[in-house]
Amino acid sequence: MKILVTGGAGYIGSHTCVELLNDNYDVVVLDNLSNSSEESLVRVKNITGKSLEFCKADLLSKKQIAAVFSENKIDAVIHFAGLKAVGESVSIPLRYFQNNITGTLNLLAVMNDFNVKNIVFSSSATVYGDPASLPIKEDFPLSVTNPYGRTKLMIEEIMKDLYHSDKNWNIALLRYFNPVGAHKTGEIGEDPSGIPNNLVPYISKVAVGCLPRLSVFGNDYDTPDGTGVRDFIHVVDLALGHIKTLPKLFSNPGLVIYNLGTGFGYSVLEMIKEFEEVSRRKIPYKIFGRRPGDVASCWADPSKAKKELGWEAKKTLTDMCRDTWNWQKKNPDGYQ
Ligand code: NAD
Ligand code: WQD
Repeated sequence: MKILVTGGAGYIGSHTCVELLNDNYDVVVLDNLSNSSEESLVRVKNITGKSLEFCKADLLSKKQIAAVFSENKIDAVIHFAGLKAVGESVSIPLRYFQNNITGTLNLLAVMNDFNVKNIVFSSSATVYGDPASLPIKEDFPLSVTNPYGRTKLMIEEIMKDLYHSDKNWNIALLRYFNPVGAHKTGEIGEDPSGIPNNLVPYISKVAVGCLPRLSVFGNDYDTPDGTGVRDFIHVVDLALGHIKTLPKLFSNPGLVIYNLGTGFGYSVLEMIKEFEEVSRRKIPYKIFGRRPGDVASCWADPSKAKKELGWEAKKTLTDMCRDTWNWQKKNPDGYQ
């Protein structure tokens, strides 16, 4: 079976390529390297001892996508490619709509032309907005608060309409909670450009001495210690969720939706403490006001994925911090 992985050079994509190769799939990566480095794919090959095909191509060019489909007999697509910085999406929304929505429309149109109708899409827990209760189930109401989230919700709606128009499509919408961690070898991990927006990459840059101090956004939430609570999930568990989704997709399920989370929430202060213990470094931090758009708490009910895919997250908070730290120490400047 040959899987096309869009955005396969990126953080979650590269970890998923490792697990696909480990599971003996043939892998073709399509990535324009706008937020990644081809070095990640060299490392994927080193980790697995297997090769994959890399096509430097942009989803904004239908011609480039079609060339990949002409040269390869693709069985299914895992679609990671997209821009993902929430703050940036507020400042340059048109770029987000253009890249994420137009890119996805181009991909779907080419898939349709080549009669490849199996796709796994990277959605996000952001589509639940501020949930009325916890844990979050797949049938909760959807709403978004920023252009990035809107691209995810719009793509979900587009894919639902597509499925309703043609029941030959098999579509899995996977809603990720907060992916963190790195491969246990420390060869691949998250390599944000510039100053990280997300908590764990920021903490690890403070631990390694690249940034002086973490800003904690709010300690007055209605949570046990007042700081935000999130469902952090190890990126390798997340990658394995995709591996478990593929047989489901090939069983012609139609359109299916799964939360990929652990079902447990940890606070910002708990994450800092765990990272300090694992790294044996002090993480200086200062409390600031709330970050606009943040919710107090967010964690998944992952029981549907367990029941229907036979998947559940296994790695602990300690694994997440230890593997992030291992990657950060070995690669203080990322892939550069
Ligand atoms: P990432 O930025 O590391 O990977 C995305 C990849 O897509 C990059 O390699 C980038 O170069 C590529 N890309 C972007 N636009 C492209 C285009 N037009 N054509 C070809 N390639 C393009 O991000 P990630 O953290 O690995 O996230 C993967 C997916 O999962 C994204 O769709 C993201 O929105 C979604 N997601 C991520 C998180 C998270 O916290 N990391 C949470 C929920 C959902
Ligand atoms: C986690 C907690 C912050 C940074 C984001 C996207 C979401 C999804 C996952 C893609 C919050 C606090 C953070 C910092 C802090 N991505 N924090 N200081 O916001 O839950 O989710 O990534 O789909 O769409 O919004 O993740 O890591 O940014 O924040 O105190 O420097 O850490 O306030 O409580 P978030 P995060």
